[in-house]
Amino acid sequence: MNEMTPPSADRSAALKGLGCARKRVEDARFTQGKGNYVDDIKLKDMLFGDFVRSPYAHARVKSVNKEVALAVPGVVAVLTAEDLAPLGLHWMPTLAGDKQMVLADGKVLYQGQEVAFVVAEDRYAAADAIELVEVDYEDLPVVTDPFKALEPDAPVLREDLEGKTEGAHGPRRHHNHIFLWEQGDKAATEAVLGEADVVAEEMIYYHRTHPCPLETCGCVASMDKINGKLTLWGTFQAPHAVRTVASLISGIAEHNIRVISPDIGGGFGNKVGVYPGYICSIVASIVTGRPVKWVEDRMDNLMTTAFARDYWMEGKIAATKDGKITGLWCHVTADHGGFDACADPTKFPAGFFNICTGSYDIPVAYVGVDGVYTNKAPGGVAYRCSFRVTEASYFIERMVDVLATKLGMDPVELRMKNFIRAEQFPYQSALGWEYDSGDYHTAMQKALDAVDYAGLRKEQAERLEAFKRGETRSLMGIGVAFFTEIVGAGPVKNCDILGLGMFDSCEIRIHPTGSAIARLGTISQGQGHATTFAQILASEIGISADDITVEEGDTDTAPYGLGTYGSRSTPVAGAATAMAGRKIRAKAQMIAAYLLEVHDDDLEWDVDRFQVKGAPERFKTMKEIAFASYNQAIPGLEPGLEAVSYYDPPNMTYPFGAYIAVMDVDVDTGVCDVRQVYALDDCGTRINPMIIEGQVHGGLTEALAIAMGQEIAYDEDGNVKTGTLMDFFLPTAWETPHYTTDHTTTPSPHHPIGAKGVGESPNVGGVSMFSNAVLDAFRPFGLTHAHMPHDHWRVWKIANGLGLHG
Ligand code: CDP
Repeated sequence: MNEMTPPSADRSAALKGLGCARKRVEDARFTQGKGNYVDDIKLKDMLFGDFVRSPYAHARVKSVNKEVALAVPGVVAVLTAEDLAPLGLHWMPTLAGDKQMVLADGKVLYQGQEVAFVVAEDRYAAADAIELVEVDYEDLPVVTDPFKALEPDAPVLREDLEGKTEGAHGPRRHHNHIFLWEQGDKAATEAVLGEADVVAEEMIYYHRTHPCPLETCGCVASMDKINGKLTLWGTFQAPHAVRTVASLISGIAEHNIRVISPDIGGGFGNKVGVYPGYICSIVASIVTGRPVKWVEDRMDNLMTTAFARDYWMEGKIAATKDGKITGLWCHVTADHGGFDACADPTKFPAGFFNICTGSYDIPVAYVGVDGVYTNKAPGGVAYRCSFRVTEASYFIERMVDVLATKLGMDPVELRMKNFIRAEQFPYQSALGWEYDSGDYHTAMQKALDAVDYAGLRKEQAERLEAFKRGETRSLMGIGVAFFTEIVGAGPVKNCDILGLGMFDSCEIRIHPTGSAIARLGTISQGQGHATTFAQILASEIGISADDITVEEGDTDTAPYGLGTYGSRSTPVAGAATAMAGRKIRAKAQMIAAYLLEVHDDDLEWDVDRFQVKGAPERFKTMKEIAFASYNQAIPGLEPGLEAVSYYDPPNMTYPFGAYIAVMDVDVDTGVCDVRQVYALDDCGTRINPMIIEGQVHGGLTEALAIAMGQEIAYDEDGNVKTGTLMDFFLPTAWETPHYTTDHTTTPSPHHPIGAKGVGESPNVGGVSMFSNAVLDAFRPFGLTHAHMPHDHWRVWKIANGLGLHG
């Protein structure tokens, strides 16, 4: 080795590649107020839009009078469905194959629905004018309960679909029915249930909630009539898909549309869908010839943009007397609100809910999901989880606890007995998935040892005795959850959004001096992509992560991709990054061979260079190779060093984890004090441990919120009861407990660097963990289940119902 050459380990560390706890490069900007969000965009002559929204959950719109509003100084236009109809834009397609009103067309179906769009010189004039648009409503009977919506005499919600017995996902059996989606073997499952030693049954409701990102949704549309170009800045989690949909809907050629997602202040699924505000802003910009900005306020966001969950999951789980699970049956009544605007891959109307066999080797299973219209806001997004996976995970992790109670078994013992064993991977689940890799027993055991599970159970039993003796009013709950996620949608063969295959992409350019830019089809909303994608590349191409710019979100420059949600960035775009890096390296090898006057095969890669096998003192670094690619005529090779990869993953990835929480539950106040949280995640190869830890902390906090109080609740008239942050629970530092994180590493066998996603795992595992902890406290008193969220009042009611208040 050349005396001047630092050892491989030092050179490797200098790259800040895979495994490095590199600080987030984005934070310098964010922490100094230098972010560039949609609301920071200010264009010359820009107008502002705001919506007139329905106060009714179900009403006929008899007339809309804009005269008074139009007289407000500064008001430029008021758009209604009548104005959009000639353009065919008063309705728009949803991601789920349904259609949705852009502006109320004859009736409204939920409180907060968009009725008219006021465009004004400033935001204040628009806000004043929306109050002055006179809408004549005739209220109609309201249905907020999906079971009542399916009764024979329930009011017809979607009059536009009346008489249609076929929907986008098969037959409709009732005027408020959307689809029935079935997976698995129903007859065989029912046969197993009929013969089983033990069957545990439960109705498990995963309440309606909302992703509630810090920054609400919004956009700026700017139609330049001179060059025919529409530029659309927005809080989009999938900018390319927005461009294609905008082109299809508006008829503007796709090359004339530029969609830019600037910095995004959290998405969590909320910013995947297409909202009326985008369409109205585009139309208003075309009509006025001026840029139009629309940004929601918090109430708009909570009440009308995509909700999450709202699944009524009826379950039956069969087992032998000694706790071997023999079958799982599940029927879901899914409340989709007024329009089916779920954001799922097209062929999966209930997302990946059929991952509901969880981490267990269950020989036979069946799941059926009925989608139902009600008078609630549309949506159904993957709020920090892959499509409907949190619902599935909550269902199975509750059912296993319910079964454990019925069998009188410890919940961990029951889990250990039924886990898919390490040697069974790749594992074929009864509901059709192929789990790529896992080692569940090792992960669970590590978690049990870390928290001293046996010691905790002993302490819990002692507390119970003290409670019975009247020495304390506090019970102890130990919540265990073992989840399997399914992320990385996905293989183009079965995953698409509106016909667009769910591949992703990376394009790399190496500059002459040996630094680089990588552009991707994904878009970070706070996950730190600029930090971690550079790390993947650093390890692949031997250029320090500090010398690599990562750019996302501009459809004029980034390669086509399907965006960021469902933890797909690492499994899909991360893989594309590694593959594009490998193409760079393959070309670099040819250049190095030419420069060193050896055959390609005589070279080997060493961290940041190619060296001659057996003569490591003869080498060319990536920096030297990069320069040579621009200044040497190399026979048979084009100049420059660039590559692009469009990656179609062969399978999803299946991250998993073992989570344990300990709570003290005060039976008199219902206050649940989270004493300890231990979260072990296995996301395969870890790119940046510090970012992973941050992702887990954030996801656990959202999970805590959902389990303990966060909900979108309606009264019987369809009024949203939780439309502000006074009522909608968002934990602050005060409510957030300390988290202990841990990991095992089971690489994905099909991902180029073995990585699986992680961002959503803590929500998938966390909700079950917190809920199981609360309910575990009451198990000794015969409780099997109670619905979330477990706020103080509801926990108090559980205790009261069990007669614990004397
Ligand atoms: O799609 P999204 O970015 O929401 O989720 P993700 O793929 O789970 O990635 C979230 C963040 O964690 C990204 O910055 C990833 O690069 C990082 N990550 C990691 O460092 N190691 C992994 N094995 C998975 C994700």
